[in-house]
This record gives sequence, C-alpha cells and structure tokens, in this order.
Amino acid sequence: MGTRCACICSRKSTAGQSGARQELRRPKRRRPPRGSVEFTEENRRAFDEIVARYPSPRAAMLPALWLVQRQEGHISAEAMEYVGELLDTPPAEVQAVVSFYTMYDRRPPGAYKLQVCRTLSCAIMGAYDILRHLEERLGVHNGETTQDGQFTLQEVECLGSCGTAPMMQVNDKYYENLTVERVDTLLDTLRAKSAILDRVPVIHDPAEMQAAVPRAVVSAPAGDHGHDHDGGGRPGG
Ligand code: FES
Repeated sequence: MGTRCACICSRKSTAGQSGARQELRRPKRRRPPRGSVEFTEENRRAFDEIVARYPSPRAAMLPALWLVQRQEGHISAEAMEYVGELLDTPPAEVQAVVSFYTMYDRRPPGAYKLQVCRTLSCAIMGAYDILRHLEERLGVHNGETTQDGQFTLQEVECLGSCGTAPMMQVNDKYYENLTVERVDTLLDTLRAKSAILDRVPVIHDPAEMQAAVPRAVVSAPAGDHGHDHDGGGRPGG
C-alpha cells in the first residue's frame, strides 16, 4: 500500500506503488507533425534507386540521410522520423546515426561549414593553430555559427586527406596544406562571394542564370586549390 505524503496535500505518495501504475501517469510522448518533411518527386526516385542497391532498406540509412539533408538543409526531428518510417527503422536509431557522424547537421548550418580536421596528421602539422585562428577571426567556437549566418566552425576527425595536412572541408570542397595566411585568403574570398551573390537576382532559368552570374562567382579564386568532395565526415568530432 502507498504511504501518506509528507506535504500538506494529504495525498498518498506513489512510493511503493507498482511500476505499472507509475507508467500510466507518464505523459505521452508528443509526436512531431507528420507530413512536414517529404522528398520531392526527384529525390523520391533517387531514394528508391539507393534503397534498391542494398540488401535491406535499413542498410541505406547513410545515403538516405544525406539525401534528406541535401533537400532540407539540415536533418530535423521530423526528417529523422520521415527517414525512419521510409526505412522501417525506429526514430531513436536514426537519431543515433545522425548524432554520430559529423557530416549530418541537426541545426541549419551557416552558408559555409568549415570542418577542420584535428586528427593526428593534421594535429602534428598545425591544425590547432588553424582552429585557434579561425576562432579568433570569426568569434565562434566549435559547433557555433557566426552571427551573420555565414560560417559554422566544426572540429572533425580524419577526412582521409592526411597526406595534405593540415586540411579542412568547406561545404563539399577540400582545402589542403593550409596555413594561417591561406585560411585568411579563403575567408576573404568566401565573404566576397557571398557579397556578390547577395546582389544577384534570383533567376530560375539555367540559361539566364549562366549569363547573369558574374564571372567572379563561377571562377575559382586565386590560390583556391579546393576540390569537390561529395560527402565526408568520419565518425567523431
Ligand atoms: S588526419 Fe587530417 S585528414 Fe587524416
């Protein structure tokens, strides 16, 4: 039987009651609204093609999450639930995967996501000097985004480019053999690109876009040796 509660309410305390009764009193978990995240037709086709390559839908989780992040800009709780439903996988399992890999963003990142490798080769070659410099110059720490929404700084583990350490990934590009001076040049270039893009009107016709975008936006900046990289982000970070 339950004992008398020590406070003035004179209710019986729950101590000693069965676990089953306590379970009944827990508030039900609120589910996020359904339908707020859904693949576009094109991405749904891409998703179906990806899943067909794997022995089970669950095995396609990494590329499926990458696809939803590409579409939504980040992976929200609703996106995790959506992918979980598509892959017949519990949301908690999807969340565990998303939080394990640094290539997935649970919050919208800045326009440029700076992922600085801090693993052994890069650490020996000066990764922490690069990180300290970025922190001072941008006024943010690991995992934070600048107030203007331009840069998100993130420390990550090995990105598989150890021979060109120290290096960092900026969105989908690798920038290697970094020095503080090269980082400064890169930041200036990225800021200049953003300033130009802010002045470019939104055009939906690709041919018109090609003609309208200033040359400076589409050509590689001087000293820019970054190269495209699809994906990235090893566990950790
Ligand atoms: S240690 Fe930095 S890329 Fe491998």
